[in-house]
Amino acid sequence: GDSSAGGFPTLKMTRHIAVRVNGRDVTSAVDVRKTVAEFIREDAALTGTHIGCDLGSCGACTVLMNDKAVCACLVLAVQADGAELITIEGLEEAPNRLHPLQQAFVEHDALQCGFCTPGVIMNLYAFLKENPNPDADDVRTALVGNLCRCGGYGNMVKAVLAAAARMRVAKE
Ligand code: FES
Ligand code: FES
Repeated sequence: GDSSAGGFPTLKMTRHIAVRVNGRDVTSAVDVRKTVAEFIREDAALTGTHIGCDLGSCGACTVLMNDKAVCACLVLAVQADGAELITIEGLEEAPNRLHPLQQAFVEHDALQCGFCTPGVIMNLYAFLKENPNPDADDVRTALVGNLCRCGGYGNMVKAVLAAAARMRVAKE
């Protein structure tokens, strides 16, 4: 029914948006206050993107928007109208074939509870595009925006270096 807060009627403003998510068009009428993170989980039905802090400080919600890593909880869905998003689900190179980064994370035990992992991987994916040959310090710096409550940073660094080497070979 008509809910009201403090005597004021609640206005629900929606707008139609069209967003390309992992190469698929997702159109939806969204509340103007909805975030990209919520849009991905609810409207695109992709739940690999996690919401931790919802404040831009943990990095769990990181996705690529027009090829740039962003915290999806900080961007409004209406701002993504017409944009191209890539989420963790979009990284699989072929059905059931993990991206080298995902593969390396598994091999190097770089995830524990896994909550931070999708955001970490999307951030690192963007990072490796710009820095195909990083050293351990570069990777540690790239990870400052990703909070891992399990503290698995050491193995993450190893995984990234291994994935980067593998990706360089694949390119040759
Ligand atoms: Fe977006 Fe934490 S949920 S940065
Ligand atoms: Fe648990 Fe990072 S693996 S939060």
